[in-house]
Amino acid sequence: MQLLDGKSCSQQIRQEIAEQVDQIKSSGGRAPHLVAVLIGNDGASQNYVAMKTRDCDEVGFNSSVIHMNNATTEQKLLDTIAELNADSDIDGFIVQLPLPQHINESKVILAIDPKKDVDGFCPENVGNMNLGLPTFISATPNGIMELLRRYDIKTEGKHCVVLGRSNIVGTPMAILLSRNTKPGNATVTIAHSRTKGLKELCLTADILIVAIGKTGFVTADMVKKGTVVIDVGQTRVSDTTRKSGFPNVGDVDFENVKNKCSYITYVTGGVGPMTRASLLQNTLKAYQRK
Ligand code: GUN
Repeated sequence: MQLLDGKSCSQQIRQEIAEQVDQIKSSGGRAPHLVAVLIGNDGASQNYVAMKTRDCDEVGFNSSVIHMNNATTEQKLLDTIAELNADSDIDGFIVQLPLPQHINESKVILAIDPKKDVDGFCPENVGNMNLGLPTFISATPNGIMELLRRYDIKTEGKHCVVLGRSNIVGTPMAILLSRNTKPGNATVTIAHSRTKGLKELCLTADILIVAIGKTGFVTADMVKKGTVVIDVGQTRVSDTTRKSGFPNVGDVDFENVKNKCSYITYVTGGVGPMTRASLLQNTLKAYQRK
């Protein structure tokens, strides 16, 4: 078994980005600027946004956080998005999800200028991804593709089972892996909560991508020997024995599954840092496209 080390891969990507930012600055350009809009006080979201801004500092980007309170109206958020769309000093921005219940997520995503949508969530960017056109690809599936690429994992002709069909992970992941690219050319099955015979299906997977949001959902009896397992799960659980008090736990029973795998990611040094590195790549792309 070999660990897919997203921590060191993402470090390498940040280094590559930092070198490009150095070049931009030394030729008199301004640094790329990413804005994160955060609504409310969800601990996990606050944590993710803090890590994203720390990454920006590391590579030399400018970054800002617009923190709005939980009672912010949908209109106020839409007005803020309109201002960000119009601000030429801002190359890209994200609205951290999930949003409070009273705000319509689709309406918010539709309001973002696709040229600044570095999350790759807008219909135009999702459509471009489907067609294989230049675009911003959603950070988590893009980060996983990058991890597969950097470890030279063969996907062509393999059966890839994606557990989860969300707009931001499962669905784009399945499309990217099935495209005629490298990595890609896999035969993909998307499975979800209504799929019958899930265990038997998972046992046919050469590559198993788990984005279902249930801690320890994939157990050793669901994985055949030699499978590549990618764990997207990051559920915050309370654990007073751990330093943070709230460790993130994956969707895969890592300790028991790892010995059956050829490759496996671990939480939180696998997909999480790769996702954040992809966001930086998208922001640099947004800056360069201007
Ligand atoms: N919440 C969980 N993942 C993401 C992400 O990739 N982008 C945004 N904006 N919110 C998220």
